[in-house]
Amino acid sequence: MTARHFLTGAELSSAELGGLLDRALELKRAPLSSRALEGRSVALIFEKPSTRTRLSFEVGIDELGGHPVVLRSEELQLSRGEALRDTAIVLSRHVAAIGVRTGPDETLEQLAEHSSVPVINMLTARHHPCQALADLLTLREAYGSLEGLRIAYVGDGNNVARSLATLGTLAGMHVAVASPDGYSLEDGISLPAGASGLVTLHSDPREAVRDARAIYTDVWVSMGDEAAAKERRAALASYRVDDALLDGGAPGAFAMHDLPAHAGEEISAEVLYGERQRIWDQAENRRHAQKALLELLVSGPA
Ligand code: CP
Repeated sequence: MTARHFLTGAELSSAELGGLLDRALELKRAPLSSRALEGRSVALIFEKPSTRTRLSFEVGIDELGGHPVVLRSEELQLSRGEALRDTAIVLSRHVAAIGVRTGPDETLEQLAEHSSVPVINMLTARHHPCQALADLLTLREAYGSLEGLRIAYVGDGNNVARSLATLGTLAGMHVAVASPDGYSLEDGISLPAGASGLVTLHSDPREAVRDARAIYTDVWVSMGDEAAAKERRAALASYRVDDALLDGGAPGAFAMHDLPAHAGEEISAEVLYGERQRIWDQAENRRHAQKALLELLVSGPA
């Protein structure tokens, strides 16, 4: 049987996404209720730093009765030129699934092509679908149904924005993305059929947040963008999420951020540590959403 991978999030149907979020809520209420990975191991390959992703996958796999095997890329024979294909074949003989955090999406795709167990994207240059699952779970908790919910993403049109748009539209949400010229989310969104009108691109953040129930942002200088830090900060300076921007959203609108954050840069400290945010819930929800994903990919629907 061919393994099911989770590379962009578009591999899920709308119904599967809804079921996964339902299951994640059950697992959040009863974290030790599933032994779906009993006696199984999951490899987690990190080519880039991580706090939330590593922690949530390691603890989540443990809670499912499994054993996480964290592999730093510089410690693998990959760093000495072993082929991705060979690495995928060998890992598939030992583990039930493989999580990968890397730069190029092509690295992830090659591992998936040659893996006989599910490969999960733990962040690439273009996609961060596990983050988007936690984001949707957080919105589900806040608002119940996601169908027709309007949210805004303000800032760099990066991998987090792309995955939010991909999975948000799969859930029937409207995602308005505001970015300056040169930082727009222009392509690579895997929209479900008939969903093209659900993502709108804007340059004015105040226009994007109008009627939005949540306002999302991310750092202005992502991993790999450090060389252009100064020009990025200048271009994105008017895209900060603060109380004034939240006031322009729907009544009760709250801020979201995938973290790590730079308080005072893309988000004000008042919002980050105040009452008008669900950011720390998002960080926790990584674990619950990924446990539901692992159950689905490794064991099939509950
Ligand atoms: N949001 C996120 O992926 O955090 P880490 O980079 O700390 O894993």
